Amino acid sequence: MIFPKKLEQKLKLREENEALRTLDSKNELVDFSSNDYLGFTKSELIFDKTHQFLIEKNFKLNGATGSRLLTGNHLLYSEVEVFLADFHNTESTLVFNSGYDANIGFFASVPQRGDVILYDEFIHASIRDGIQLSNAKAYKFQHNTIEELEKLLIRHSELVSESHSNIYVVTESVFSMDGDSPDLAAMIEIIKKNNAYLIVDEAHAMGVFGAGLVQKLNLENEVFARIITFGKALGCHGAAILGSKKLTRYLVNFARSFIYTTGLSPHSLATIKTSYEQLDDDSTDKLHQNIHHFKSEIERLELKNLFIESNSAIHCCVISGNTKTKNIANQLQQNGFNIKPILSPTVTEGKERLRFCLHSYNSTQEITQVLENLATFAI
Ligand SMILES: Cc1ncc(COP(=O)(O)O)c(C=O)c1O
Repeated sequence: MIFPKKLEQKLKLREENEALRTLDSKNELVDFSSNDYLGFTKSELIFDKTHQFLIEKNFKLNGATGSRLLTGNHLLYSEVEVFLADFHNTESTLVFNSGYDANIGFFASVPQRGDVILYDEFIHASIRDGIQLSNAKAYKFQHNTIEELEKLLIRHSELVSESHSNIYVVTESVFSMDGDSPDLAAMIEIIKKNNAYLIVDEAHAMGVFGAGLVQKLNLENEVFARIITFGKALGCHGAAILGSKKLTRYLVNFARSFIYTTGLSPHSLATIKTSYEQLDDDSTDKLHQNIHHFKSEIERLELKNLFIESNSAIHCCVISGNTKTKNIANQLQQNGFNIKPILSPTVTEGKERLRFCLHSYNSTQEITQVLENLATFAI
């Protein structure tokens, strides 16, 4: 079939750089790579309860039928959004079809021409894409570095105060490719001093640290917006932006990824609600015991200096080099462990890594085995 030469060449270059992405089929390896941190994706209880809930409510529909602004705003939306607002101690919430949609919708519509966005250099691709769609100017700051953020804030707050523009700062509470976290309280202090607005993406904190790190630290009233996603620890699909009623009203009117798309099916909304109802201390405690075990094992095996410091479910071993990282990942996979190599250009060249995602359902034995295996590859 016909295919433009230019695109062919781009694929070839990816291949030459050992950076070609391909789709894996599902495998039976021990899971150290999915985002299903609490095992909710495989929960038959959630599956059955969701079905029951839909039958009881007589929601026998397979789809939403249209955009939420046209025919797609079925009753389950308001039920779930009211529930989420209460759960997350916020004035209002707005559900999006995915975290990607939430981030591009927010960043393309909220910051205006003349505004400034300050973003952590390791911010997720969905935020970067949203920023690219925005008319605001954007500047990155060094990963988790408060001092550099403060310098940028001071420099830009003088400029924007004359033009009545706004500064937006965006970070993640758990970084998706590093697993580490910013000092949110310290960030908020300098952000407040400089009259800026903070947005926190909580995709990998939600369910891992209760209702997210912002809430765990009692900072929900200091943050302009939080983005939570349901495709990670909650094991289903979708996302929500948490903030004021005015923010929700604004996004309904201006966020194009909210407006010009078919809404989620009732089944998706029902699964979100049922999954939230299953969040309890048992599954989170098991996950945190595993995180603790993983950390003590990397210390015992003298691997600690290769790992990025993290208390979350994501732990990264920096290898450096696409080929080497891929080779070690392949060997671990051959030995039965599903470990994904994270290659450049997804991460900076030289920082290619193995990304270990921990789950409540990993056994301590599996954790010990995979790390003992890793240690044999004389990194
Ligand atoms: C930090 C972060 N934000 C947003 C997203 C996008 O979420 P979703 O998978 O629901 O589109 C992801 C997922 O990869 C993520 O890691």
